[in-house]
Amino acid sequence: MDFVGPLRLGVNIDHVATVRNARGGAVPDPVRAAKLAEEAGADGITAHLREDRRHIADADFEALMDALTVPLNFEMAATQEMQEIALRHKPHAVCIVPEKREERTTEGGLEVAREENHLAHYIAPLREAGCRVSIFIAADQKQIEAASRIGAQVIELHTGAYCDAHAEGDFEARDRELEKLRAMSTFAHSLGLEVHAGHGLTYDCVQPVAAFPEVMELNIGHFLIGESIFRGLTPAIAEMRRLMDEARA
Ligand code: PXP
Repeated sequence: MDFVGPLRLGVNIDHVATVRNARGGAVPDPVRAAKLAEEAGADGITAHLREDRRHIADADFEALMDALTVPLNFEMAATQEMQEIALRHKPHAVCIVPEKREERTTEGGLEVAREENHLAHYIAPLREAGCRVSIFIAADQKQIEAASRIGAQVIELHTGAYCDAHAEGDFEARDRELEKLRAMSTFAHSLGLEVHAGHGLTYDCVQPVAAFPEVMELNIGHFLIGESIFRGLTPAIAEMRRLMDEARA
């Protein structure tokens, strides 16, 4: 496949709120971080309003909707509460993710194939309201086919297993996971789905994924917020942008 256009960077600002919430109070402000990310070249901002509100709070989400000029990608579990919030505010995009209270982060992709009927009905009003609907899934053909059947416009491939294998130095497993991501990006694109990817991406492992021509957007949070402690948010984002553009070229 030919080069299909520049790769968008969505910056996830959840963990600015994690640091704020460690003390309560108002600082550091995730909306300030989002505005700075915008200025630093983020093409979009991502925020996950969890059921337990452990990082982003409802007021953050509302403030982001008011403050941003780039699109907001609202990550949410497929619950009635989140659907009502999304329909009230109509963010540019919603990304449906699995959510378990006991997990530290979003551990796997959504089981679309098993929940096809429910999810088809769940996302229909979101699509009608004008939100682009993305489904966060593993690089698995069955899940991609199901995402296409329920009417999702976008899939986001979970890159966590690839990034973990890379970090652990298990290069056989890393290459196997990367190959799955590559093949499933091509497959999803062939079904007419827009392909995004994210979870666990760092400077060290972003480039092979950024090089897949079908991937149109990467959503990156935890590493960038951590790296900003050392170099500041703007340079941290600029370096990620540079690595993505280099891989793309
Ligand atoms: N994409 C999705 C759907 C996610 O749930 C997350 C984590 O909230 C990310 C991307 C970003 O992952 P990370 O914070 O590990 O970069």
